[in-house]
Amino acid sequence: MPFNKLAGFHKPSVKGHTGKALIGRLGGRETIIFQGRSHYYEGLKMSEVTFPIRVLAAYGIENLLLTNAAGGINGKYQPGELMLFSDHINFMGENPLRGTAQSDNSQFPDMTQVYDPALNKIIKSAARRSKIKLHSGVYCAVCGPSYETPAEIRAFKKLGADAVGMSTVPEAIVANQHNLRVAAISCITNRAAGLGNAKLTHEEVLKIGKSSSRTAANLLIEFAQNYD
Ligand code: HPA
Repeated sequence: MPFNKLAGFHKPSVKGHTGKALIGRLGGRETIIFQGRSHYYEGLKMSEVTFPIRVLAAYGIENLLLTNAAGGINGKYQPGELMLFSDHINFMGENPLRGTAQSDNSQFPDMTQVYDPALNKIIKSAARRSKIKLHSGVYCAVCGPSYETPAEIRAFKKLGADAVGMSTVPEAIVANQHNLRVAAISCITNRAAGLGNAKLTHEEVLKIGKSSSRTAANLLIEFAQNYD
């Protein structure tokens, strides 16, 4: 189903994001897969970027698994490998809950454990069983769309970031507000600015993302099969 044709949904404008929702079963579990997302850097409001999460929460989903492409800051991360979020740093300069006052004060969710330890445990054991290398680390979210400068990457590293990207954190914050269980996985598509030799390009990010998509899919299937 093309979700971008539904009221309130925006057509993702970035190459590689098709704007379709696949509804069916994955590993025997009822699953909705959104192929692509809208990004804050596309010029949308945070409320628009996170609208699909609110729809999914209203529909009654219980678990949200977010995926993205990210630049590797941790020196142990190689392009093509995966990283499970242990936590995040929000450097997007915005919070999706700003201006969403609720009488139940739910716009002030606790953020001590955004990424659900039980889901992370299942994902880690799925990776072990499938022999997929899965790092665990801190994701730093920036606004984009320009890539970072080497000085910014050095600063993020000092602050404890393992990977950097331009998405996911708004969705995770809104999902947390709705008490969804959240996990997130980055495909490390490149070494972050100043850490590799090559210039960063969106084409390279898409290429490595595509070549790792089978590995990520295998991990998600193994996860779904063993989720209880
Ligand atoms: N920086 C920000 N976003 C990204 C990167 C990066 O190096 N790679 C993929 N998405």
